[in-house]
This record gives sequence, structure tokens and C-alpha cells, in this order.
Amino acid sequence: MKTGLVSLVGAGPGDCGLITLAGARRLAEAELVLYDALVAEEILSLAPNALRVPVGKRAGRPSASQASIERLMIRAARRGRRVVRLKGGDPFVLGRGGEEALALAGAGVPFEVVPGVSSAVAAPGLAGIPLTHRGLSSAFVVVSGHSEESCRPVLEGLAPSTATLVVLMGLGRRKEIVSLLLRRGWKPATPAAICAGASTPESTLWTGRLDELADVPQSHGLPGTIVIGEVVELSAEIGSQGLRHRPEAGQARIYATRT
Ligand SMILES: C[S@@+](CC[C@H](N)C(=O)[O-])C[C@H]1O[C@@H](n2cnc3c(N)ncnc32)[C@H](O)[C@@H]1O
Repeated sequence: MKTGLVSLVGAGPGDCGLITLAGARRLAEAELVLYDALVAEEILSLAPNALRVPVGKRAGRPSASQASIERLMIRAARRGRRVVRLKGGDPFVLGRGGEEALALAGAGVPFEVVPGVSSAVAAPGLAGIPLTHRGLSSAFVVVSGHSEESCRPVLEGLAPSTATLVVLMGLGRRKEIVSLLLRRGWKPATPAAICAGASTPESTLWTGRLDELADVPQSHGLPGTIVIGEVVELSAEIGSQGLRHRPEAGQARIYATRT
């Protein structure tokens, strides 16, 4: 009997060149791919022999429930299928990959984790923002801005400007995040950035000050990563060079810059 295997694969931030070789290999072998909304068509084409099933939120339609995704993976693996659960960025960074791994382990199904390039590092990186830089920052904190409970305790526990702050899923809650940071003593002029659609042809980059962050118009439908800290200043110098040499990874359009 064929042994099934579920691979929890990180697709990276969007661009096909940013999935790992191990991830691409698993896709090539896959018979079933369950993929999230942010995964690009080009990456799915790496799985030519697989049945591809979208399970993420699409065009206002709700995502498949976590329980039904887990059931699908377990059933297919028990039938001996090679399954890829393809998730944006890294499966274990704010993506519920841990829950899926626990469900697979609990069901006694063979599985593996193929890490991916998280947008937490790829989005700033492509914009020319090093998350750490000697003399400016020796740590970075990644937090979900999705809800107050997810970020408030982290932001309240962080002394102002002691680390670069990276916020995922935070575009819709910028106002609350900015006012909390200002109340905690972060300087209004702290450099800040929004890297949207990083590594895709639609990518945009805004850089400015912390106290301007909430007023930046949102790029429609694009996922965005917020970066706050002195290292953002380096994007003016590094970003323009880096992007010029990486046209295939999507050109950043800087639509508002700090003066
Ligand atoms: C549910 S989280 C998943 C994160 C993912 N596991 C990772 O490691 O990148 C989705 C958030 O990631 C960020 N994100 C995903 N793709 C992005 C991209 N191409 N550019 C900028 N941010 C992105 C956004 O903050 C988005 O709201």
C-alpha cells in the first residue's frame, strides 16, 4: 500500500522565485494541493499533476473551516495520497500551521514541515529595510495586528524603540496601533513603512513617520506588512539599489516618501 504524506509547505510572500527548492519538489510530486488565498497561480503551476483546491478566503467568500481542511488532509493521506498544504509565507508564522501539524500528529498521519520565506522578513527585505542593523537595531518583534488581544500585550511590554516592530495583518488597525505606541512613549517621528504586495508586480512601498501611518491610503486588496523603527530610513539608500537589480521580484512603486 502507498504511504501518504502531508507536507505543510511555505509558499513565500508571492513571487514564484521565493519558494524553496524543497517546497517546489513537493509540489511537483503532489496529488492534492490545498492552498491559501494569497498563493499565486504561478506557484500552483509547479504542481501540474495535482488536484488544486482553494481553501482560503476569496473575493469575499469565507474560507473553508479549519476542521474541514484538517479532515481533507487526513483523509487523503490515509488513502495514500501525497498532499501539499500550501500556505503563504512560512507555515508556522501567524498561519495556523501549528494547529494543522497537531491535527496530523494526533491522527497518526505522516507529515513534514517545509519552511517558507515569511513576509515578515521578505517584505521589508525587498523594500531595502534590514530588520537589524548595527547601531540601529539588534532585534525585531513580529506581531499580529489582527485584533487587540493579539497585539496589545506585546506592544505594551516593549520599551519604545528597543526593537524593530513588524506588524502583519495590521493595516486595518493602524489607528489603534499608532495611538498605543505613542501613548507608550514612541516618538511621533519614528520612521515607519508599509510594504504592500511585496514580491508581486503590484508591490508598493510607503515610508514616512509613525504619526502619519494611520492616514496612508490602503492599497486595494494587497496584503501589507508594517515596519516601525529607525532601520526604515535605510530603505531610501538600499531599496532603490536592490529593487533595480531584482526586477523579476516585482518593482516597488514609492508613492509617498519621507522628506
Ligand atoms: C495570515 S498572515 C500569514 C503570514 C505568513 N504565514 C507569512 O509568514 O508571511 C497574512 C499577512 O502576511 C502579510 N503578507 C502576506 N503576503 C504579503 C506580501 N506579499 N507583502 C506584504 N505583506 C504580506 C500581511 O500582513 C498579511 O495580512
